[in-house]
Amino acid sequence: MAEETSRKIGPVVLLGPPGAGKGTQSQLIARRYRIPHVSTGDILRENVQNQTVLGRQAKANMARGELVSDTLVCDMVADRLRQPDSLRGFILDGFPRTAAQAGWLDAFLEQEFFDKSDSHKRYPIVICIRVDYNKLSLRLTGRRTCPACDRIYNVYLKPPLADEICDVDGSKLVIRDDDRTEVIQERLAAYERQTTPVVEYYQQKGRLVSVDGDQPTPEVTKQIFQEIDSYAADVAGGR
Ligand code: AP5
Repeated sequence: MAEETSRKIGPVVLLGPPGAGKGTQSQLIARRYRIPHVSTGDILRENVQNQTVLGRQAKANMARGELVSDTLVCDMVADRLRQPDSLRGFILDGFPRTAAQAGWLDAFLEQEFFDKSDSHKRYPIVICIRVDYNKLSLRLTGRRTCPACDRIYNVYLKPPLADEICDVDGSKLVIRDDDRTEVIQERLAAYERQTTPVVEYYQQKGRLVSVDGDQPTPEVTKQIFQEIDSYAADVAGGR
């Protein structure tokens, strides 16, 4: 499929429980529409690995499967979205995750992102990837990631050609620290407790699109692309 380079896409928010496929789909959306993939989990993990101040503050919460504080995460997202590559649009993967973050995002977009000369406001399209909870454990315990190119595999569902080796660049695949069974349980509980209200928030505002994430990856991608194409057409038409 052809890649985009000029059309305005607008903000895309991907919601869904741990293992729903947000990272997998975000990479495909980023490649198709040429908009940046802003994953709060990836940015936090990078900070933990580099032992930055932010990383040191976030580390313990992440290790337990709990959310990092709203203030830290919102400041981090603001810094990222202020970079010029976000102007055509961007994908938020893993943000917002609390009601406070959702409110903050609306206010931030109002103040800093919407074109003041344009009466049309590009509120994000919010796509929730829904997956049967019983399947999430296999997805998370089987996940492997390439540390060099970030490609996501699954030893049960989408194995690499050679055991534990990235198909693209030959790097040894890694297991995420929080993909251990006891941490997975807390991550799922945090989603239920803190992120389900975010899904409801967008539903009430009429901005939520649900996608069946139990299908094979290409089917999920096809449905998401259709939704983004239709949203981008609305953005272009000022609807
Ligand atoms: P984060 O990195 O955002 O993790 P998560 O939300 O738990 O989501 P995952 O990355 O685990 O799953 P995913 O939906 O991206 O699935 P994936 O595509 O990899 O957050 C980590 C931590 O950071 C949090 O716990 C928190 O501490 C902190 N944090 C992050 N954001 C925060 C925020 N906003 N506020 C506060 N704290 C924050 O797929 C999973 C597996 O399934 C893969 O193996 C893949 O190959 C497979 N798969 C994908 N799609 C399919 C399919 N259709 N069929 C079969 N298999 C599939």
